[in-house]
Amino acid sequence: MSADDEKRIAAEAAAELVEDGMTVGLGTGSTVAHLLPAIAARGLSGIRCVATSVATEEQARGLGIPVEEFSALERLDIAIDGTDQVTPDGWLIKGGGGAHLREKIVAAAAERFVVISDSSKPVDALTGPVPLELFAFGLRSTLARLGPEVELRDVPRSPDDGAIADHRGEIDDPAALATRLEADPGVAAHGLFPPDMVSELLVGAGGAVTRSTFS
Ligand code: 5RP
Repeated sequence: MSADDEKRIAAEAAAELVEDGMTVGLGTGSTVAHLLPAIAARGLSGIRCVATSVATEEQARGLGIPVEEFSALERLDIAIDGTDQVTPDGWLIKGGGGAHLREKIVAAAAERFVVISDSSKPVDALTGPVPLELFAFGLRSTLARLGPEVELRDVPRSPDDGAIADHRGEIDDPAALATRLEADPGVAAHGLFPPDMVSELLVGAGGAVTRSTFS
Protein backbone atom coordinates (compact mmCIF):
# COMPACT_ATOMS: atom_id res chain seq x y z
CA MET A 1 0.00 0.00 0.00
CA SER A 2 1.38 3.46 -0.90
CA ALA A 3 1.99 6.17 1.68
CA ASP A 4 -0.90 8.10 0.17
CA ASP A 5 -3.23 5.12 0.63
CA GLU A 6 -2.03 4.79 4.22
CA LYS A 7 -2.88 8.46 4.77
CA ARG A 8 -6.28 7.90 3.23
CA ILE A 9 -7.26 4.93 5.42
CA ALA A 10 -6.09 6.75 8.57
CA ALA A 11 -8.09 9.81 7.52
CA GLU A 12 -11.18 7.73 6.77
CA ALA A 13 -10.97 6.12 10.22
CA ALA A 14 -10.72 9.57 11.82
CA ALA A 15 -13.73 10.85 9.85
CA GLU A 16 -15.80 8.15 11.57
CA LEU A 17 -15.11 9.89 14.91
CA VAL A 18 -17.00 13.01 13.84
CA GLU A 19 -20.65 13.03 14.85
CA ASP A 20 -23.69 15.19 14.08
CA GLY A 21 -23.58 18.58 15.75
CA MET A 22 -19.87 18.49 16.66
CA THR A 23 -17.52 21.44 16.51
CA VAL A 24 -14.52 20.26 14.49
CA GLY A 25 -11.00 21.56 13.92
CA LEU A 26 -9.59 20.70 10.51
CA GLY A 27 -5.80 20.44 10.14
CA THR A 28 -3.62 21.02 7.12
CA GLY A 29 -1.68 18.88 4.68
CA SER A 30 -1.93 15.93 2.33
CA THR A 31 -3.33 13.59 5.01
CA VAL A 32 -6.05 16.08 5.91
CA ALA A 33 -6.79 16.40 2.19
CA HIS A 34 -8.10 12.81 2.46
CA LEU A 35 -10.00 13.59 5.65
CA LEU A 36 -12.20 16.28 4.14
CA PRO A 37 -13.93 14.14 1.46
CA ALA A 38 -14.38 11.40 4.06
CA ILE A 39 -16.14 13.85 6.40
CA ALA A 40 -18.21 15.25 3.51
CA ALA A 41 -19.26 11.73 2.48
CA ARG A 42 -20.74 11.07 5.92
CA GLY A 43 -23.50 13.62 5.33
CA LEU A 44 -23.40 14.81 8.93
CA SER A 45 -25.81 17.44 10.10
CA GLY A 46 -25.09 20.47 12.23
CA ILE A 47 -21.30 20.24 12.32
CA ARG A 48 -19.40 23.52 12.71
CA CYS A 49 -15.81 23.54 11.49
CA VAL A 50 -12.76 25.77 11.72
CA ALA A 51 -9.82 25.41 9.34
CA THR A 52 -6.12 25.79 10.12
CA SER A 53 -5.17 27.08 6.66
CA VAL A 54 -6.60 28.75 3.61
CA ALA A 55 -5.99 25.55 1.58
CA THR A 56 -8.04 23.48 4.02
CA GLU A 57 -10.77 26.09 4.18
CA GLU A 58 -11.07 26.20 0.39
CA GLN A 59 -11.11 22.42 -0.01
CA ALA A 60 -13.67 22.04 2.78
CA ARG A 61 -16.00 24.69 1.39
CA GLY A 62 -15.70 23.10 -2.07
CA LEU A 63 -16.93 19.84 -0.56
CA GLY A 64 -19.85 21.53 1.17
CA ILE A 65 -18.32 21.36 4.66
CA PRO A 66 -19.32 24.47 6.62
CA VAL A 67 -16.27 26.46 7.81
CA GLU A 68 -16.43 29.48 10.05
CA GLU A 69 -13.99 31.97 11.57
CA PHE A 70 -12.35 30.73 14.73
CA SER A 71 -13.66 33.64 16.76
CA ALA A 72 -17.22 32.59 17.50
CA LEU A 73 -16.37 29.19 18.99
CA GLU A 74 -14.91 28.80 22.46
CA ARG A 75 -13.97 25.14 22.24
CA LEU A 76 -13.98 22.28 19.78
CA ASP A 77 -15.23 18.75 20.33
CA ILE A 78 -12.55 17.28 18.11
CA ALA A 79 -9.62 18.37 15.97
CA ILE A 80 -7.97 16.11 13.41
CA ASP A 81 -4.60 16.81 11.83
CA GLY A 82 -1.54 15.22 10.26
CA THR A 83 2.01 15.24 11.60
CA ASP A 84 5.57 15.21 10.33
CA GLN A 85 6.92 12.98 13.10
CA VAL A 86 5.49 11.24 16.17
CA THR A 87 7.41 9.44 18.91
CA PRO A 88 6.19 6.38 20.87
CA ASP A 89 5.35 8.62 23.86
CA GLY A 90 3.36 11.08 21.72
CA TRP A 91 5.64 14.02 20.97
CA LEU A 92 4.95 15.51 17.55
CA ILE A 93 6.81 17.73 15.13
CA LYS A 94 4.33 19.63 12.99
CA GLY A 95 4.56 22.55 10.62
CA GLY A 96 5.99 21.04 7.46
CA GLY A 97 3.30 23.06 5.73
CA GLY A 98 3.95 26.14 7.87
CA ALA A 99 0.51 26.04 9.48
CA HIS A 100 1.68 25.07 12.99
CA LEU A 101 0.57 28.24 14.78
CA ARG A 102 -3.07 27.83 13.82
CA GLU A 103 -2.79 24.05 14.13
CA LYS A 104 -1.58 24.39 17.72
CA ILE A 105 -4.31 26.88 18.66
CA VAL A 106 -6.94 24.55 17.22
CA ALA A 107 -5.43 21.47 18.90
CA ALA A 108 -5.32 23.27 22.25
CA ALA A 109 -9.01 24.17 21.94
CA ALA A 110 -10.07 20.62 21.20
CA GLU A 111 -11.49 18.16 23.71
CA ARG A 112 -9.99 15.39 21.60
CA PHE A 113 -6.99 15.95 19.29
CA VAL A 114 -6.64 13.10 16.82
CA VAL A 115 -3.45 12.75 14.78
CA ILE A 116 -3.50 10.86 11.50
CA SER A 117 -0.48 9.57 9.60
CA ASP A 118 1.05 7.09 7.25
CA SER A 119 3.63 4.58 8.47
CA SER A 120 6.60 6.89 7.74
CA LYS A 121 5.75 9.37 10.50
CA PRO A 122 6.29 7.30 13.68
CA VAL A 123 9.95 7.68 14.78
CA ASP A 124 11.96 6.48 17.77
CA ALA A 125 13.11 10.03 18.54
CA LEU A 126 12.41 13.43 17.02
CA THR A 127 14.95 14.83 14.58
CA GLY A 128 14.89 18.41 13.32
CA PRO A 129 14.12 20.71 11.83
CA VAL A 130 11.50 22.16 14.16
CA PRO A 131 9.28 24.64 12.28
CA LEU A 132 8.86 28.06 13.85
CA GLU A 133 6.58 30.99 13.25
CA LEU A 134 8.25 34.29 14.17
CA PHE A 135 6.50 37.61 14.70
CA ALA A 136 7.22 40.06 11.87
CA PHE A 137 7.77 42.79 14.45
CA GLY A 138 11.46 42.79 15.38
CA LEU A 139 12.17 39.84 13.10
CA ARG A 140 15.87 40.61 12.57
CA SER A 141 16.45 40.95 16.28
CA THR A 142 14.59 37.70 16.96
CA LEU A 143 16.73 35.88 14.40
CA ALA A 144 19.89 37.34 15.90
CA ARG A 145 18.84 36.15 19.36
CA LEU A 146 17.91 32.66 18.18
CA GLY A 147 21.27 32.26 16.47
CA PRO A 148 22.56 30.34 13.47
CA GLU A 149 20.53 27.20 14.22
CA VAL A 150 17.41 29.06 13.00
CA GLU A 151 16.93 29.70 9.29
CA LEU A 152 14.09 31.53 7.58
CA ARG A 153 12.13 29.34 5.18
CA ASP A 154 11.70 30.73 1.66
CA VAL A 155 7.89 30.72 1.79
CA PRO A 156 5.23 33.43 2.02
CA ARG A 157 4.26 34.91 5.38
CA SER A 158 1.57 33.05 7.31
CA PRO A 159 -2.07 34.27 7.32
CA ASP A 160 -1.15 35.90 10.66
CA ASP A 161 1.80 37.71 9.03
CA GLY A 162 4.36 35.49 10.75
CA ALA A 163 7.67 34.52 9.14
CA ILE A 164 8.12 30.77 8.82
CA ALA A 165 11.53 29.48 9.91
CA ASP A 166 13.18 26.24 10.99
CA HIS A 167 15.24 25.38 14.03
CA ARG A 168 17.93 23.04 12.74
CA GLY A 169 19.68 22.20 16.00
CA GLU A 170 19.71 18.87 17.81
CA ILE A 171 16.61 17.81 19.76
CA ASP A 172 18.09 16.06 22.78
CA ASP A 173 15.15 16.95 25.02
CA PRO A 174 11.92 18.12 23.25
CA ALA A 175 10.45 19.59 26.45
CA ALA A 176 13.59 21.61 27.16
CA LEU A 177 13.76 22.88 23.58
CA ALA A 178 10.05 23.79 23.66
CA THR A 179 10.59 25.74 26.88
CA ARG A 180 13.61 27.53 25.42
CA LEU A 181 11.74 28.52 22.25
CA GLU A 182 8.67 29.65 24.22
CA ALA A 183 10.90 31.90 26.32
CA ASP A 184 11.78 34.07 23.31
CA PRO A 185 9.20 36.84 22.85
CA GLY A 186 9.74 36.84 19.09
CA VAL A 187 8.63 33.22 18.67
CA ALA A 188 4.90 33.07 17.94
CA ALA A 189 4.81 29.27 17.76
CA HIS A 190 7.01 26.23 17.37
CA GLY A 191 6.16 22.88 15.86
CA LEU A 192 6.80 20.74 18.96
CA PHE A 193 3.45 19.44 20.21
CA PRO A 194 3.65 17.74 23.64
CA PRO A 195 2.02 14.37 24.39
CA ASP A 196 -0.53 15.94 26.74
CA MET A 197 -2.00 17.74 23.74
CA VAL A 198 -2.50 14.53 21.75
CA SER A 199 -5.47 12.30 22.49
CA GLU A 200 -5.11 9.66 19.85
CA LEU A 201 -2.89 8.59 16.95
CA LEU A 202 -4.26 6.72 13.94
CA VAL A 203 -1.57 5.29 11.67
CA GLY A 204 -2.29 3.67 8.34
CA ALA A 205 0.20 0.82 7.90
CA GLY A 206 -0.12 -1.82 5.24
CA GLY A 207 -3.87 -2.26 4.86
CA ALA A 208 -4.85 -1.51 8.46
CA VAL A 209 -5.13 1.40 10.86
CA THR A 210 -3.42 1.10 14.25
CA ARG A 211 -4.63 3.26 17.16
CA SER A 212 -2.68 4.56 20.14
CA THR A 213 -4.06 6.77 22.88
CA PHE A 214 -2.05 9.31 24.83
CA SER A 215 -3.84 11.87 27.02
C1 5RP B 1 1.27 21.40 8.27
C2 5RP B 1 1.44 20.18 9.11
C3 5RP B 1 1.03 18.89 8.49
O1 5RP B 1 0.04 18.31 9.27
C4 5RP B 1 2.25 18.00 8.43
O2 5RP B 1 3.27 18.67 7.71
C5 5RP B 1 1.92 16.67 7.75
O3 5RP B 1 1.65 16.90 6.41
P1 5RP B 1 1.18 15.76 5.43
O4 5RP B 1 -0.15 15.27 5.90
O5 5RP B 1 1.13 16.43 4.09
O6 5RP B 1 2.22 14.66 5.46
O7 5RP B 1 1.87 20.21 10.23
O8 5RP B 1 1.75 22.53 8.92
